[in-house]
Amino acid sequence: MNIDVALEPSEISQLAIRDLSRTTCVVFDVLRATSSMVTGLVFGAEGIVPVSTIEEALEQKRLQPQALLGGERYGERIEGFDLGNSPFEYRQCQGRRIITTTTNGTVALRACAGAERVLVGAVLNLGAISRVLRKMAPENVLLVCAGTFETLALEDVWAAGRLLSDFEGADWSDSARVAHATSRLWPEPLAALAAARNGRALLAKGRQAEVEWCAQLSVYEVFGEMSQGVVRPVFLA
Ligand code: MLT
Repeated sequence: MNIDVALEPSEISQLAIRDLSRTTCVVFDVLRATSSMVTGLVFGAEGIVPVSTIEEALEQKRLQPQALLGGERYGERIEGFDLGNSPFEYRQCQGRRIITTTTNGTVALRACAGAERVLVGAVLNLGAISRVLRKMAPENVLLVCAGTFETLALEDVWAAGRLLSDFEGADWSDSARVAHATSRLWPEPLAALAAARNGRALLAKGRQAEVEWCAQLSVYEVFGEMSQGVVRPVFLA
């Protein structure tokens, strides 16, 4: 197994022109898009439609009027949308489909659309991602760190690096080595998330409970898999 890591958004913008047809991508936006998606799926959301722009979200809503509209810009709910991007809001969506657009997380997912498989990862389900990768044993794995605006996000690199600890026998790129070394600086996920710029921003806004939620390690045996534009839950036995 070859494991590479896209550490930051400039690499993600190149994915559309990269042949990912024999690559399994795992997308991380730990604070908060992929944590919210995993939470939503665990709490019974039927599916999640990640889109890149507000216009696409509104177009999808026109096609799927029963769906909820979610997402954020600058961390806050988009005007007129049903949900923001808090994992706590995603706990209230049982049986519903959610169309969502976020600054980085949904863009990263869409950039991987040409991959052999696209999985939604978070700290919450890191063990499940590890198990499914071991079971599938794909030839190539790309861990995609969604980042924040144009920059690297520590919490995403931490999650990718921590996952790599389970694959020490694999063939790692230099980016993978950097991610792994980074994760070892913070043995506890909450410490990594609280040190990250995004974590500090959320703490400053009084959203400590959200950071703590997203830092729970491997508490859910589920992952999301995106197929034909929809992320659906896969529960491990
Ligand atoms: C994003 O997709 O950029 C983030 O999830 C932003 C956020 O924390 O809401």
